[in-house]
Amino acid sequence: MTSTAYEKVKETLSNEPKTWLITGVAGFIGSNILETLLLLNQKVVGLDNFATGFQHNLDEVQGLVNEDQWQKFTFIEGDIRNLDDCNEACVGVDYVLHQAALGSVPRSIADPINTNDTNISGYLNMLVAARDAQVASFTYAASSSTYGDHPALPKVEDTIGNPLSPYAVTKYVNELYADVFARTYGFKTIGLRYFNIFGKRQTPDGAYAAVIPKWTAAMIAGNEVFINGDGDTSRDFNFIENAVQANILAATADNEAKNQVYNVAVGGRTTLNTLFDALKESLSDNGVTYSQDAVYRDFRAGDVRHSQADISKIQNVLGYAPQFDIVQGIAKAMPWYVSFKDKVND
Ligand SMILES: NC(=O)c1ccc[n+]([C@@H]2O[C@H](COP(=O)([O-])OP(=O)(O)OC[C@H]3O[C@@H](n4cnc5c(N)ncnc54)[C@H](O)[C@@H]3O)[C@@H](O)[C@H]2O)c1
Repeated sequence: MTSTAYEKVKETLSNEPKTWLITGVAGFIGSNILETLLLLNQKVVGLDNFATGFQHNLDEVQGLVNEDQWQKFTFIEGDIRNLDDCNEACVGVDYVLHQAALGSVPRSIADPINTNDTNISGYLNMLVAARDAQVASFTYAASSSTYGDHPALPKVEDTIGNPLSPYAVTKYVNELYADVFARTYGFKTIGLRYFNIFGKRQTPDGAYAAVIPKWTAAMIAGNEVFINGDGDTSRDFNFIENAVQANILAATADNEAKNQVYNVAVGGRTTLNTLFDALKESLSDNGVTYSQDAVYRDFRAGDVRHSQADISKIQNVLGYAPQFDIVQGIAKAMPWYVSFKDKVND
Protein backbone atom coordinates (compact mmCIF):
# COMPACT_ATOMS: atom_id res chain seq x y z
CA MET A 1 0.00 0.00 0.00
CA THR A 2 1.24 3.50 -0.72
CA SER A 3 -0.17 6.84 0.28
CA THR A 4 -0.11 9.16 -2.70
CA ALA A 5 -0.77 12.18 -0.50
CA TYR A 6 2.12 11.23 1.78
CA GLU A 7 4.52 10.65 -1.11
CA LYS A 8 3.63 14.05 -2.58
CA VAL A 9 4.09 15.87 0.72
CA LYS A 10 7.45 14.19 1.31
CA GLU A 11 8.60 15.23 -2.15
CA THR A 12 7.52 18.84 -1.58
CA LEU A 13 9.29 18.90 1.79
CA SER A 14 12.48 17.49 0.29
CA ASN A 15 12.45 20.28 -2.31
CA GLU A 16 11.49 23.01 0.16
CA PRO A 17 12.72 22.00 3.63
CA LYS A 18 10.92 23.43 6.66
CA THR A 19 11.79 23.96 10.31
CA TRP A 20 9.94 21.66 12.70
CA LEU A 21 9.64 21.54 16.47
CA ILE A 22 9.08 18.13 18.03
CA THR A 23 8.33 18.21 21.74
CA GLY A 24 8.95 14.87 23.44
CA VAL A 25 11.64 14.21 20.82
CA ALA A 26 13.56 11.74 23.01
CA GLY A 27 10.48 9.57 23.43
CA PHE A 28 9.11 6.77 21.30
CA ILE A 29 6.90 8.66 18.84
CA GLY A 30 8.98 11.85 18.88
CA SER A 31 12.23 10.07 18.02
CA ASN A 32 10.59 8.19 15.16
CA ILE A 33 9.22 11.43 13.72
CA LEU A 34 12.69 12.95 14.13
CA GLU A 35 14.26 10.12 12.15
CA THR A 36 11.82 10.53 9.26
CA LEU A 37 12.15 14.32 9.13
CA LEU A 38 15.95 14.27 9.21
CA LEU A 39 16.00 11.68 6.44
CA LEU A 40 13.90 14.19 4.46
CA ASN A 41 16.59 16.82 5.13
CA GLN A 42 14.32 18.95 7.32
CA LYS A 43 15.57 21.28 10.05
CA VAL A 44 14.34 20.03 13.42
CA VAL A 45 14.32 21.52 16.89
CA GLY A 46 13.63 19.00 19.65
CA LEU A 47 12.51 19.72 23.20
CA ASP A 48 12.55 17.11 25.97
CA ASN A 49 13.22 16.89 29.71
CA PHE A 50 13.94 13.11 29.64
CA ALA A 51 11.05 12.42 32.03
CA THR A 52 10.23 9.25 30.09
CA GLY A 53 12.46 9.71 27.03
CA PHE A 54 16.05 8.60 26.59
CA GLN A 55 19.34 9.91 25.25
CA HIS A 56 19.83 6.48 23.67
CA ASN A 57 16.80 7.12 21.44
CA LEU A 58 18.48 10.26 20.10
CA ASP A 59 21.81 8.43 19.73
CA GLU A 60 20.08 5.73 17.74
CA VAL A 61 18.57 8.29 15.36
CA GLN A 62 21.99 9.89 14.95
CA GLY A 63 23.30 6.51 13.79
CA LEU A 64 20.52 6.20 11.21
CA VAL A 65 20.98 9.56 9.45
CA ASN A 66 24.03 11.07 7.80
CA GLU A 67 26.26 13.72 9.36
CA ASP A 68 24.72 16.60 7.34
CA GLN A 69 21.23 15.53 8.37
CA TRP A 70 22.21 15.26 12.03
CA GLN A 71 23.66 18.79 11.89
CA LYS A 72 20.14 20.00 11.05
CA PHE A 73 18.93 18.89 14.49
CA THR A 74 19.04 21.21 17.53
CA PHE A 75 18.20 19.69 20.88
CA ILE A 76 16.93 21.76 23.79
CA GLU A 77 16.85 20.00 27.13
CA GLY A 78 13.89 21.74 28.67
CA ASP A 79 10.47 21.37 30.17
CA ILE A 80 7.11 22.23 28.66
CA ARG A 81 5.95 23.23 32.16
CA ASN A 82 8.32 26.19 31.75
CA LEU A 83 6.94 28.82 29.33
CA ASP A 84 10.42 30.22 28.61
CA ASP A 85 11.57 26.82 27.35
CA CYS A 86 8.50 26.62 25.11
CA ASN A 87 9.10 30.13 23.74
CA GLU A 88 12.75 29.37 23.05
CA ALA A 89 11.85 26.17 21.24
CA CYS A 90 9.29 27.89 18.98
CA VAL A 91 11.65 30.54 17.56
CA GLY A 92 11.77 30.33 13.75
CA VAL A 93 9.62 27.20 13.62
CA ASP A 94 7.15 26.47 10.80
CA TYR A 95 5.48 23.32 12.10
CA VAL A 96 5.04 22.18 15.70
CA LEU A 97 4.45 18.51 16.47
CA HIS A 98 3.61 18.44 20.17
CA GLN A 99 4.22 14.94 21.54
CA ALA A 100 5.54 15.65 25.06
CA ALA A 101 3.28 14.32 27.78
CA LEU A 102 3.21 11.80 30.59
CA GLY A 103 1.57 8.80 28.98
CA SER A 104 -0.03 5.76 30.58
CA VAL A 105 -3.42 5.36 32.23
CA PRO A 106 -2.01 3.61 35.35
CA ARG A 107 0.64 6.32 35.86
CA SER A 108 -2.10 8.94 35.82
CA ILE A 109 -4.11 7.01 38.40
CA ALA A 110 -1.02 6.73 40.61
CA ASP A 111 0.09 10.34 40.03
CA PRO A 112 -2.70 12.56 38.71
CA ILE A 113 -1.00 15.81 39.75
CA ASN A 114 2.17 15.39 37.69
CA THR A 115 0.16 14.03 34.78
CA ASN A 116 -2.06 17.09 34.92
CA ASP A 117 0.90 19.50 35.17
CA THR A 118 2.63 18.15 32.11
CA ASN A 119 -0.34 17.20 29.99
CA ILE A 120 -2.52 20.24 30.65
CA SER A 121 -0.33 23.11 31.97
CA GLY A 122 2.60 22.09 29.76
CA TYR A 123 0.32 21.71 26.77
CA LEU A 124 -1.20 25.16 27.41
CA ASN A 125 2.30 26.67 27.55
CA MET A 126 3.06 25.11 24.18
CA LEU A 127 -0.18 26.45 22.68
CA VAL A 128 0.59 29.98 23.91
CA ALA A 129 4.23 29.84 22.77
CA ALA A 130 3.29 28.48 19.32
CA ARG A 131 0.51 31.03 18.91
CA ASP A 132 2.83 33.89 19.87
CA ALA A 133 5.56 32.62 17.51
CA GLN A 134 2.94 32.54 14.73
CA VAL A 135 3.90 29.07 13.60
CA ALA A 136 2.27 27.80 10.41
CA SER A 137 0.72 24.78 12.11
CA PHE A 138 0.38 23.07 15.48
CA THR A 139 -0.34 19.36 15.60
CA TYR A 140 -0.71 17.64 18.96
CA ALA A 141 -0.89 14.11 20.30
CA ALA A 142 -4.47 13.47 21.41
CA SER A 143 -5.63 10.02 22.47
CA SER A 144 -8.20 7.32 21.86
CA SER A 145 -8.72 7.35 25.65
CA THR A 146 -11.00 10.34 25.02
CA TYR A 147 -13.68 7.87 23.83
CA GLY A 148 -13.89 6.79 27.47
CA ASP A 149 -16.95 4.76 28.37
CA HIS A 150 -18.79 5.23 25.09
CA PRO A 151 -19.60 1.71 23.86
CA ALA A 152 -19.95 2.37 20.10
CA LEU A 153 -17.54 0.59 17.77
CA PRO A 154 -15.84 1.66 15.62
CA LYS A 155 -15.04 4.98 17.27
CA VAL A 156 -16.08 8.04 15.25
CA GLU A 157 -14.52 11.39 16.17
CA ASP A 158 -17.75 13.20 17.11
CA THR A 159 -19.06 10.59 19.55
CA ILE A 160 -17.19 10.38 22.83
CA GLY A 161 -18.12 9.21 26.31
CA ASN A 162 -16.93 10.06 29.83
CA PRO A 163 -13.18 9.80 30.54
CA LEU A 164 -12.14 6.71 32.55
CA SER A 165 -8.83 7.98 33.94
CA PRO A 166 -6.98 11.20 34.83
CA TYR A 167 -4.88 10.64 31.68
CA ALA A 168 -8.04 10.61 29.55
CA VAL A 169 -9.20 13.83 31.21
CA THR A 170 -5.92 15.54 30.29
CA LYS A 171 -6.12 14.47 26.66
CA TYR A 172 -9.73 15.61 26.42
CA VAL A 173 -8.83 18.97 27.98
CA ASN A 174 -6.16 19.32 25.27
CA GLU A 175 -8.90 19.09 22.68
CA LEU A 176 -11.08 21.61 24.54
CA TYR A 177 -8.20 24.11 24.73
CA ALA A 178 -7.45 23.58 21.05
CA ASP A 179 -11.04 24.43 20.18
CA VAL A 180 -11.04 27.49 22.44
CA PHE A 181 -7.77 28.74 20.91
CA ALA A 182 -9.39 28.54 17.48
CA ARG A 183 -12.45 30.47 18.70
CA THR A 184 -10.70 33.10 20.77
CA TYR A 185 -7.40 33.68 18.96
CA GLY A 186 -8.04 32.18 15.52
CA PHE A 187 -5.16 29.76 16.26
CA LYS A 188 -6.20 26.55 14.55
CA THR A 189 -4.63 23.23 15.43
CA ILE A 190 -4.96 19.56 14.58
CA GLY A 191 -5.34 16.85 17.22
CA LEU A 192 -4.32 13.30 16.38
CA ARG A 193 -6.14 10.74 18.49
CA TYR A 194 -3.58 7.95 18.54
CA PHE A 195 -4.81 4.40 19.07
CA ASN A 196 -2.11 2.18 20.69
CA ILE A 197 0.97 3.03 18.64
CA PHE A 198 3.84 0.51 18.68
CA GLY A 199 7.26 0.03 17.10
CA LYS A 200 10.98 0.49 17.65
CA ARG A 201 12.15 2.71 20.51
CA GLN A 202 8.97 2.20 22.53
CA THR A 203 10.52 1.35 25.86
CA PRO A 204 9.97 -2.15 27.24
CA ASP A 205 11.22 -1.02 30.64
CA GLY A 206 9.46 0.43 33.65
CA ALA A 207 6.15 -0.06 35.40
CA TYR A 208 4.24 1.86 32.76
CA ALA A 209 5.53 0.18 29.61
CA ALA A 210 2.93 -0.40 26.88
CA VAL A 211 1.67 -3.91 26.27
CA ILE A 212 3.60 -4.82 23.11
CA PRO A 213 7.10 -3.90 24.35
CA LYS A 214 6.32 -5.19 27.85
CA TRP A 215 5.20 -8.62 26.66
CA THR A 216 7.93 -8.87 24.04
CA ALA A 217 10.62 -8.14 26.61
CA ALA A 218 9.09 -10.63 29.05
CA MET A 219 9.03 -13.31 26.36
CA ILE A 220 12.64 -12.65 25.34
CA ALA A 221 13.70 -12.90 29.00
CA GLY A 222 11.65 -16.10 29.46
CA ASN A 223 9.45 -14.43 32.08
CA GLU A 224 5.72 -14.75 32.68
CA VAL A 225 3.36 -12.69 30.55
CA PHE A 226 0.33 -11.35 32.39
CA ILE A 227 -2.96 -10.69 30.65
CA ASN A 228 -5.24 -8.28 32.52
CA GLY A 229 -8.76 -9.72 32.33
CA ASP A 230 -9.95 -12.54 30.09
CA GLY A 231 -7.82 -11.61 27.08
CA ASP A 232 -10.83 -10.58 25.03
CA THR A 233 -10.04 -6.90 25.56
CA SER A 234 -9.26 -5.50 22.12
CA ARG A 235 -7.28 -2.64 20.63
CA ASP A 236 -6.62 -1.06 17.26
CA PHE A 237 -2.82 -1.43 17.35
CA ASN A 238 -1.11 0.92 14.95
CA PHE A 239 2.47 0.71 13.71
CA ILE A 240 4.61 3.80 14.34
CA GLU A 241 5.30 4.56 10.68
CA ASN A 242 1.58 5.10 10.12
CA ALA A 243 1.55 7.60 13.01
CA VAL A 244 4.56 9.44 11.58
CA GLN A 245 2.70 9.72 8.28
CA ALA A 246 -0.34 11.17 10.07
CA ASN A 247 1.82 13.84 11.74
CA ILE A 248 3.47 14.94 8.51
CA LEU A 249 0.14 15.08 6.66
CA ALA A 250 -1.48 17.02 9.52
CA ALA A 251 1.33 19.55 9.81
CA THR A 252 1.20 20.37 6.12
CA ALA A 253 -2.60 20.27 5.75
CA ASP A 254 -4.70 23.14 4.41
CA ASN A 255 -6.43 25.48 6.83
CA GLU A 256 -9.81 23.86 6.13
CA ALA A 257 -8.52 20.64 7.68
CA LYS A 258 -7.64 22.42 10.92
CA ASN A 259 -9.46 22.90 14.21
CA GLN A 260 -10.29 19.20 14.02
CA VAL A 261 -9.31 15.95 15.67
CA TYR A 262 -8.60 12.80 13.70
CA ASN A 263 -8.36 9.14 14.63
CA VAL A 264 -4.92 7.69 13.88
CA ALA A 265 -5.17 3.91 13.63
CA VAL A 266 -5.53 1.18 11.04
CA GLY A 267 -9.20 0.43 11.68
CA GLY A 268 -8.54 -3.11 12.90
CA ARG A 269 -9.26 -4.83 16.19
CA THR A 270 -6.95 -7.34 17.86
CA THR A 271 -7.67 -9.04 21.17
CA LEU A 272 -4.96 -9.46 23.79
CA ASN A 273 -5.15 -13.23 23.30
CA THR A 274 -4.49 -12.84 19.57
CA LEU A 275 -1.71 -10.35 20.26
CA PHE A 276 -0.04 -12.81 22.63
CA ASP A 277 0.02 -15.47 19.90
CA ALA A 278 1.20 -13.02 17.23
CA LEU A 279 4.14 -11.85 19.36
CA LYS A 280 5.13 -15.43 20.15
CA GLU A 281 5.07 -16.30 16.47
CA SER A 282 7.04 -13.25 15.39
CA LEU A 283 9.66 -13.92 18.07
CA SER A 284 9.98 -17.45 16.82
CA ASP A 285 10.62 -16.02 13.31
CA ASN A 286 13.45 -14.08 14.95
CA GLY A 287 15.00 -17.10 16.62
CA VAL A 288 13.43 -16.71 20.09
CA THR A 289 11.21 -19.52 21.35
CA TYR A 290 8.66 -18.79 24.06
CA SER A 291 6.67 -21.81 25.14
CA GLN A 292 4.86 -20.58 28.25
CA ASP A 293 1.14 -19.84 28.39
CA ALA A 294 -0.12 -16.42 29.43
CA VAL A 295 -1.08 -15.86 33.07
CA TYR A 296 -4.51 -14.25 33.51
CA ARG A 297 -5.19 -11.76 36.30
CA ASP A 298 -7.76 -9.04 37.14
CA PHE A 299 -8.90 -6.37 34.73
CA ARG A 300 -6.96 -3.12 35.10
CA ALA A 301 -8.67 0.00 36.46
CA GLY A 302 -9.32 2.72 33.90
CA ASP A 303 -8.95 0.48 30.86
CA VAL A 304 -11.38 0.73 27.98
CA ARG A 305 -12.75 -2.72 27.08
CA HIS A 306 -12.73 -2.47 23.29
CA SER A 307 -11.18 0.04 20.98
CA GLN A 308 -11.33 0.27 17.22
CA ALA A 309 -11.19 3.38 15.08
CA ASP A 310 -13.18 4.54 12.15
CA ILE A 311 -10.39 6.11 10.09
CA SER A 312 -12.49 7.48 7.23
CA LYS A 313 -12.16 11.10 8.38
CA ILE A 314 -8.36 11.15 8.30
CA GLN A 315 -8.34 9.16 5.07
CA ASN A 316 -10.77 11.52 3.35
CA VAL A 317 -9.51 14.85 4.67
CA LEU A 318 -5.75 14.34 5.08
CA GLY A 319 -5.18 11.56 2.54
CA TYR A 320 -3.82 9.26 5.26
CA ALA A 321 -3.32 5.66 4.14
CA PRO A 322 -1.78 3.32 6.72
CA GLN A 323 1.08 1.41 5.11
CA PHE A 324 1.39 -1.33 7.75
CA ASP A 325 -1.19 -3.53 9.47
CA ILE A 326 -0.49 -5.02 12.89
CA VAL A 327 1.20 -8.18 11.60
CA GLN A 328 3.45 -6.24 9.22
CA GLY A 329 4.23 -3.76 12.00
CA ILE A 330 5.16 -6.48 14.49
CA ALA A 331 7.39 -8.09 11.87
CA LYS A 332 9.21 -4.77 11.36
CA ALA A 333 9.48 -3.98 15.07
CA MET A 334 10.58 -7.39 16.36
CA PRO A 335 14.25 -7.40 15.26
CA TRP A 336 14.68 -4.11 17.12
CA TYR A 337 13.33 -5.62 20.35
CA VAL A 338 15.54 -8.66 20.01
CA SER A 339 18.65 -6.51 19.45
CA PHE A 340 17.63 -3.95 22.09
CA LYS A 341 17.56 -6.65 24.75
CA ASP A 342 20.99 -7.83 23.61
CA LYS A 343 22.34 -4.31 23.96
CA VAL A 344 20.79 -3.87 27.40
CA ASN A 345 22.16 -7.24 28.53
CA ASP A 346 25.68 -6.53 27.25
N1 LIG B 1 2.16 5.48 22.40
C1 LIG B 1 0.86 5.46 22.28
O1 LIG B 1 0.25 4.44 21.98
C2 LIG B 1 0.04 6.72 22.50
C3 LIG B 1 -1.36 6.63 22.43
C4 LIG B 1 -2.11 7.79 22.62
C5 LIG B 1 -1.46 8.99 22.83
N2 LIG B 1 -0.10 9.03 22.92
C6 LIG B 1 0.54 10.33 23.15
O2 LIG B 1 1.61 10.48 22.24
C7 LIG B 1 2.63 11.29 22.82
C8 LIG B 1 3.97 10.58 22.72
O3 LIG B 1 3.88 9.35 23.43
P1 LIG B 1 5.04 8.26 23.43
O4 LIG B 1 4.37 6.95 23.36
O5 LIG B 1 6.08 8.62 22.45
O6 LIG B 1 5.56 8.43 24.92
P2 LIG B 1 7.06 8.66 25.46
O7 LIG B 1 6.93 8.64 26.94
O8 LIG B 1 8.00 7.71 24.82
O9 LIG B 1 7.39 10.13 24.96
C9 LIG B 1 6.98 11.29 25.63
C10 LIG B 1 8.19 12.22 25.67
O10 LIG B 1 7.78 13.45 26.29
C11 LIG B 1 8.83 13.83 27.18
N3 LIG B 1 8.29 14.68 28.24
C12 LIG B 1 7.45 14.30 29.25
N4 LIG B 1 7.19 15.33 30.06
C13 LIG B 1 7.87 16.40 29.55
C14 LIG B 1 8.02 17.74 29.95
N5 LIG B 1 7.41 18.20 31.06
N6 LIG B 1 8.78 18.56 29.20
C15 LIG B 1 9.42 18.11 28.10
N7 LIG B 1 9.32 16.83 27.67
C16 LIG B 1 8.56 15.99 28.39
C17 LIG B 1 9.37 12.54 27.73
O11 LIG B 1 10.66 12.66 28.30
C18 LIG B 1 9.35 11.66 26.49
O12 LIG B 1 10.54 11.76 25.77
C19 LIG B 1 2.16 11.59 24.23
O13 LIG B 1 1.51 12.83 24.21
C20 LIG B 1 1.16 10.48 24.52
O14 LIG B 1 0.22 10.86 25.50
C21 LIG B 1 0.66 7.92 22.76
